[in-house]
Amino acid sequence: MDHKRNHPMEESILGASLSLQLLLLMMMTLPPTAESYAMERPGCNDTCGDVPIPYPFGIGPGCFMDGFELNCTMINGTYRPFSDDVEVLDISLLLGRGRINNPVSSQCYIDGTYVLDHGWFGLDTPYGQYRFSHLLNKFTTIGCDTVAYIKVENKVNDKYRIGCVSGCYNVESLTNESCSGIGCCQTAIPKEINYYEVWFENNLTSSDVRNFSPCSYAFLVEADRFNFSTNYVTTTELFGKQVPVVVEFAFGNGTCETARLDTTTYVCVSDNSECVDSLSGPGYLCNCSKGYQGNPYLVGGCEDINECADKDNNPCSGNCDNRPGGFLCSCPPGEHGNPYLNGTCSPDQNNFQAALILAIGISVGVVVLVLFIFGIYITRERRKLNQVKEKYFRQHGGWLLYEEMRSKQHLAFKIFSKEELEEATNNFDDNKILGQGGNGTVYKGTLKDNRIVAIKRSKVINESQTKEFGKEMLILSQINHKNVVKLLGCCLEVEVPMLVYEFVPNGTLFQLIHGKDNISHVSLETRLRIAHESAEALAYLHSSASPPIIHGDVKPSNILLDEHYMAKVSDFGASMLAPIDETQFVTLVQGTCGYLDPEYLQTSMLTDKSDVYSFGVVMLELITGKKAFCFTAPDEERSLSSNFMSAMKENRLHEILHNQIVNDEEIELIKEVAELAMACLSIRGEERPTMKEVAEELDRLRKLNHHPWAHHNPEETKCLLQGSPNYDDPDYYSLDGR
Ligand SMILES: *[C@@H]1O[C@H](CO)[C@@H](O)[C@H](O)[C@H]1NC(C)=O
Repeated sequence: MDHKRNHPMEESILGASLSLQLLLLMMMTLPPTAESYAMERPGCNDTCGDVPIPYPFGIGPGCFMDGFELNCTMINGTYRPFSDDVEVLDISLLLGRGRINNPVSSQCYIDGTYVLDHGWFGLDTPYGQYRFSHLLNKFTTIGCDTVAYIKVENKVNDKYRIGCVSGCYNVESLTNESCSGIGCCQTAIPKEINYYEVWFENNLTSSDVRNFSPCSYAFLVEADRFNFSTNYVTTTELFGKQVPVVVEFAFGNGTCETARLDTTTYVCVSDNSECVDSLSGPGYLCNCSKGYQGNPYLVGGCEDINECADKDNNPCSGNCDNRPGGFLCSCPPGEHGNPYLNGTCSPDQNNFQAALILAIGISVGVVVLVLFIFGIYITRERRKLNQVKEKYFRQHGGWLLYEEMRSKQHLAFKIFSKEELEEATNNFDDNKILGQGGNGTVYKGTLKDNRIVAIKRSKVINESQTKEFGKEMLILSQINHKNVVKLLGCCLEVEVPMLVYEFVPNGTLFQLIHGKDNISHVSLETRLRIAHESAEALAYLHSSASPPIIHGDVKPSNILLDEHYMAKVSDFGASMLAPIDETQFVTLVQGTCGYLDPEYLQTSMLTDKSDVYSFGVVMLELITGKKAFCFTAPDEERSLSSNFMSAMKENRLHEILHNQIVNDEEIELIKEVAELAMACLSIRGEERPTMKEVAEELDRLRKLNHHPWAHHNPEETKCLLQGSPNYDDPDYYSLDGR
C-alpha cells in the first residue's frame, strides 16, 4: 500500500492541535481483545505499540506472509505499524479488515494564495486482495463551494468517476452531524476498488464563501467514524490530516472450493479451521471452527474455547463442563430449570412431588427387598429339599445308575418323580395294592399316559435292602428281553426307593402250578413253552448281557405270566453281575431253599450253573406239579430234586408224575424233559449243561411235541383262564417269594 501526495505540506501540519473531533475519532482503534492464545508466529512481535499484529501480518523476517509485511516505526514517542508509508490503525482477522490512515485532499485559499494537496491512493499487491470497503467507506467533500470527484479503478482496470458537490452561503445554514449537501457531501463508491485519485473541479472563486470557508476537502473515509462538524467548514486545520478508511483483504483470487485444492497455497493451516469466501470480492478468509478461537492461519492456531472458564461471561449458569469445540451445561443435581439462563436453576420446589417420588422409591425398594428375601428363602428351602432328595438319590445308587443309564443310552428307562408315582397310585391307596411281601409292597399304578404299571415300594429298610434295590435296578435297566420283566423306571428321591415295572397281569408260574387247579389242566405244550421261554431269558442273562447276569433266585414264583401266558423272569434282587475274575466271587446269597445249588452251599460261589440247578428244579415242578419243598412229605422226600433223582435211578418216574400223563406220546417227551432236568441237577456244576444248551434242548422238545390239538385247544384256554391267579397274592410280583 502506498499513497503519494502532490504537495509537500504534510509534515508541517502533523504537529497541529488534536482538538478536532475528527482527530479524536482517528485515535480510536478497536479495543484489543483479551486473547491468551498466540496470534503471531513464535518469536515474533505480536504488537506494535498498542496495535495487535496477527499473522499473516508480521514485523521482521519470518514473521509475515508475503504481501503482509509491516514496519513498526516510532512516531512522536509511540510505535505505530506501517505498511510502506501507510499507517495501519488496527487489523481484524475475523472480518478480514484493517483500518489505515488515509490523507485528506485539500484546496485552500490561505493568505491570498491557493494551496492544493491532492493525490492518489493504491492498494495493489501481487499476493492477496486488498480493496477499499465499498460498504463502510464513503467519498466525502467538505466546503461551501466545493466540487470534487474521485477517479476509481478496480483490479481489472474498470475506471469510474464519482463526484460530490457541497455548498452553503453562510455558517448559520450548516448543521452538525448532517452531511447532506450543505457544507458536506457523501457518496458511495463501487465494489472492489483498490485505487483512487482525488480531483477538485472548482477553485474557490467566490470571495463571499472564501471569507468564512477557506478550504475545500475531499477524502475517502469510514462513514461511521466521520461525524460532520460545522467547524470543519471554517477551519484550515484539516489540511494534510489523515482519516481512517477500511481496507478489506482476502487470500487467493478464487473461492474456498478452488483454494482448498492447492494445499501449497492454502492458508487455513490450523486444525479446526475453516475457509469462508470473502464477501467483498474474490478470495477467501479463514475462521476457527465453532467452539475454537485463535489464529486459523497458524499451525495449531485454533484452540478450544473454554466456555466455562470465564466466570463473568459464562454461557452456562449451571454445571459447566468444557468439551473440545463446546461444553455441556446442566443444572446441579437436585435442581431444575434452564441452566443457560442465569438464576433459573433452582432446587426442586415442589416438595410434595419430591416427597412422593421419595416415598414411591422407598416403597418399591421395600417391596423389592421383601421379594428378594422371600426368593432367597424359597431357593434355600428348595435347595434343602433337593439336598434331601439328592441324598436319597445317592444313597440308592442313583448316580451310579444315572451314569450307567447315560453310558448305555437306555432311553426307555425313566427316573420318576415322587409326585408322579403318588399320582399314579392315588397316593399309595390300599386298593391299589397288587401284592405285599416281607420287604415291600407292589402297587398297581396308572401313569399319566394311561400306561398300567406295577410299582414296587420297598418296606425298608436297612442299607443292605436299599442296595439290593439299587442293584436290581441297575441289572434290569440293562436288560431288554421279551421274557424278562421290563423295568420302566424308578424313583430315587424318596427315603424308600421305588421301582416301576411293566404290569404283568397273569400272576406267577407258582400260582399256575400250585394254584387251585392242578397243573395237569395246563397242556404239556404250554408248560414246555413256559419252560423254554424262561430258559431263553436266563440264557440271555448268562450269555448275551454284558456283563453276564446271574439271577441267583430262579423259582416259579419269580416267573411271571403275561396275558398270553408268556413267561417273564422277574425279581433280580438276588442277582449278581458276574465278575471278571470268578475266584474273587464269594458272596452270601439268599437263594430259596429247595432251589439252591448244593455246590453253592459248599463253596459260597454263585455261578451261572447255580441258575441252571434252580431251573432244573423249576422243570421238575412243571412236569410233576409238586412243590420243590414239600413239608408234608416224609423227611427223605423233602427235597423234590433228591426225591426225583432217586426215583429216576430206581426207574420210578411214574410214581412221581402221578396222573400228569395224558397219553403215551407225552410220557416220552416228559422223560426227555426229566433227563434234561436231571442233567441240570448234577451235583457238580461243571457237569450241568449251560442255560443256552437247556434252552436249545427245550426248543427241540417243543418242536417234537407237534400235536395238532396242542396249538388251539379251546378247552385248555378255558381251564387256564379259570385258573388265572389271584392278583392279590403277595408272591405275584415275587417280592418275597423265597
Ligand atoms: C457544532 O459542534 C461544535 C463542537 O462540538 C460547536 O463548536 C459548534 O458551535 C456547533 N455548531 C452548531 C451550529 O451548533
